[in-house]
Amino acid sequence: MPSAASVDLERARADTPGVANRIHLNNAGAALMPGPVIQTIKDYTDLEAAIGGYEAAGQEATRIDGVYDSVARLIGATRDEIALTENATVAWDMAFYALAFQAGDRILTAQAEYAANYVAYLQVAKRTGAVIEVIPNDETGALNPRALESMIDERVKLISITWIPTNGGLVNPAAEIGRIARSHGITYLLDACQAVGQMPVDVNELNCDILSATGRKFLRGPRGTGFLYVRRKLLGELEPPMIDHFAAPWTSPDGYTLRSDARRFETWENSYALRLGLGVAVDYAQSIGLDAIQRRCIALADQLRDLLRKIPGATIHDLGAHPSAIVSMTVDGADSQTIKAHLHEKRVNVSVSGPPSTLLDASARRLPPVVRLSPHYYNSEAEITQAADLIRRFACP
Ligand SMILES: Cc1ncc(COP(=O)(O)O)c(C=O)c1O
Repeated sequence: MPSAASVDLERARADTPGVANRIHLNNAGAALMPGPVIQTIKDYTDLEAAIGGYEAAGQEATRIDGVYDSVARLIGATRDEIALTENATVAWDMAFYALAFQAGDRILTAQAEYAANYVAYLQVAKRTGAVIEVIPNDETGALNPRALESMIDERVKLISITWIPTNGGLVNPAAEIGRIARSHGITYLLDACQAVGQMPVDVNELNCDILSATGRKFLRGPRGTGFLYVRRKLLGELEPPMIDHFAAPWTSPDGYTLRSDARRFETWENSYALRLGLGVAVDYAQSIGLDAIQRRCIALADQLRDLLRKIPGATIHDLGAHPSAIVSMTVDGADSQTIKAHLHEKRVNVSVSGPPSTLLDASARRLPPVVRLSPHYYNSEAEITQAADLIRRFACP
């Protein structure tokens, strides 16, 4: 049952030092960290400076270990199914490259697939003779589950999609895709990088076998953090593409024993300051409530789209029936980088998503670089109005 509680905006803003300096609408890039996350990282760094790096890790071992429980709780997994990584791409790559492909195997993916994932498909296709096929979209521009169903045969080895693409508001029907994958016994890899922290995520409702995410975006964790989920029953089958003596202890002169948990996808050395920061960010999001966060993110994005639609020459490019908090737009005759620079001067942070990030989607829709505005729950309605007003004055001087 979704919680009806709403976000306490005043408290959220009081907890976010960065809002004093900027209107931050680049949460799909990297969100502003809340105070408790920042303090945790600083305190742990101070502890390392005071007593030594290994000694600090020893002293804080229980708290560091608890980060696995936090991440597992966030996505409905168990702690042994979680690996902590330095970003989402490493998480995704470690799992993807552990899958064994043969000539003729089919990889089904989405039109709005993220570049890092797609180049990995291309490399594996080149190496093994596997083929990549794109699942068609429905009339709203979202991935079409019925089309996917009709593509399935015994050669489909993997269904691998981006849930929310990097270049706009589209939310692909990740749970419906999961039901289809599960009913056919096909491995399902879900890039949840832009979803985690923005909405509730439950790996059992999604029926995904593998999920990757980052810390710095809507989750509001530090840069340089990410995580991987691998379903327990798949874990034993996946030999990571690279290992060290943490992932696979050296148990005899000519042998090693892979860990039985998802930490077989990790290596030994890590930033414990950042890991602790990630854990606090996860707990912080949960204490606010992911239902409330999602409602507010969507309300702010809808407010922004409504205002932008009224600007002569502005076009919104978001696909799907129920877009998320990533708003993509262009202004006729204006270069998106110039708009970003103009807003930056006025202390409004946005980003630009260029065609190479989502090449198939950008080519199919003939998209130029788009301005990406991504509000989060700690943004105020007044900030949204101010940002839209600046764009209006830029477009119609
Ligand atoms: C949809 C999507 N997937 C994956 C990534 C990669 O995340 P990371 O930079 O943490 O590796 C991004 C980053 O922008 C993204 O938007």
